[in-house]
Amino acid sequence: MSFHRKDTKIYRGQIAYTPELGKLTTIKNGYIVVESSKVKGVYPTLPKEYEYTPVEDYGNKLIIPGFVDLHSHASQVANRGIGLDRELLDWLLVYTFKEEAKFSDLCYAEKAYSEYIKLLIKNGTTRAALLGTIYRESTELLMDIANGYGLGAVVGKVNMDREAPEYYIENTDQSIIETERFIHNTIWKYPLVKPIITPRFVPATTPKLMWALAQLADYYRLPVQSHLSEDKEELEYVKRLHPEFKNYVSIYNYFGLFGQQPTIMAHCVYLSDEEIALMARKGVYVAHCPVANFNLSGSVAPIRKFLLAGINVGLGTDVGAGHAVSIKDVIWQAIQASKVYELQTNHQYKALTTAEAFYLATKGGGSFFGKVGSLEAGYDFDALVIDDSNILTIHPRTISERLERFIYLGDDRNIIQRFIAGRKVNPLTLSV
Ligand code: GUN
Ligand code: FE
Repeated sequence: MSFHRKDTKIYRGQIAYTPELGKLTTIKNGYIVVESSKVKGVYPTLPKEYEYTPVEDYGNKLIIPGFVDLHSHASQVANRGIGLDRELLDWLLVYTFKEEAKFSDLCYAEKAYSEYIKLLIKNGTTRAALLGTIYRESTELLMDIANGYGLGAVVGKVNMDREAPEYYIENTDQSIIETERFIHNTIWKYPLVKPIITPRFVPATTPKLMWALAQLADYYRLPVQSHLSEDKEELEYVKRLHPEFKNYVSIYNYFGLFGQQPTIMAHCVYLSDEEIALMARKGVYVAHCPVANFNLSGSVAPIRKFLLAGINVGLGTDVGAGHAVSIKDVIWQAIQASKVYELQTNHQYKALTTAEAFYLATKGGGSFFGKVGSLEAGYDFDALVIDDSNILTIHPRTISERLERFIYLGDDRNIIQRFIAGRKVNPLTLSV
């Protein structure tokens, strides 16, 4: 008989995860053995060595990896669902900067960020790449709140020192100093919440600032996140500001923002093959935000093309350009966007399958955080337990069909348990 340490946990249920793009693994009445924060193994029958370890049995419920949101603005939570008749640049000026400016007030920030983080976790997101605002203090508060609820996240203080209204802009030197202070204050503070360098996008950051931020990312070994090529007006704007560069991607690359640690670029709708090849070489992640792309500009990103080029792709809600906080809803939107793209390309680039889109929502974006987004051995145990009894039909359904129906028909009420790095989220904390 062998004994297992107290922190071994075993969960039983109807298991589904995607070890690779397009491959969905399902295990009926399977067991997941978790040791402290990580998956030790997944089994169709429980190995004999665990026969005396108690099992938490979820019966007929599904157990799937937690969702990864690779791009979202925590500071725009209150703006969801308004202003979406505008296009990007107009929308930023009329709605977004005004809302973000409110986060100089820590009381406002506390309320909005708490609401946002709770919404995120309620909807099954277990890891996220988040943007705060230009204000260091309230962005640090966002990290504190995320940590308090147990979310895994990278969080960025936004940098912007040009082409923005007077009430929401930074002085270049101050922006650099505040960013370094932000890094010092947060880099070692939390186990699962870390800083990320966040120039807003090329139009809002001067070359000097981009260069300095790249130096900071390099020195502190931090990743970078930003926006890239979201709509045509933005592209023209970038061309006007930087006629000396041949394209948008080469600007980020020139200033060193595709550094040692991975960079996340949101949107990436209009890119040349040359830009795509450079991003693939540099290991840049694309955060695909189909809901936001439909809302603000009716555009569609060429995701199949990225996948064929070997680019890492994850899904993002892009709150508040995206109105959905749920990555589950971004999954079906990504599938629909990919069907439009297939039509646009005369069937050259095939639409995403459900298993592929589910992969992007879990392991695709999760790999940015390390071994995250799958239930394979060695992965952080980030998982959701799904009670789909209210959407089961009279027909018997396979696990794969049940997962698909949850994606299309379910909502946050179907998620009855959430685990992040092995720890169960206390549902009571989400309801107050
Ligand atoms: N580009 C620069 N800033 C933003 C933003 O806040 N939202 C979106 N969707 N695109 C941006
Ligand atoms: Fe965004």
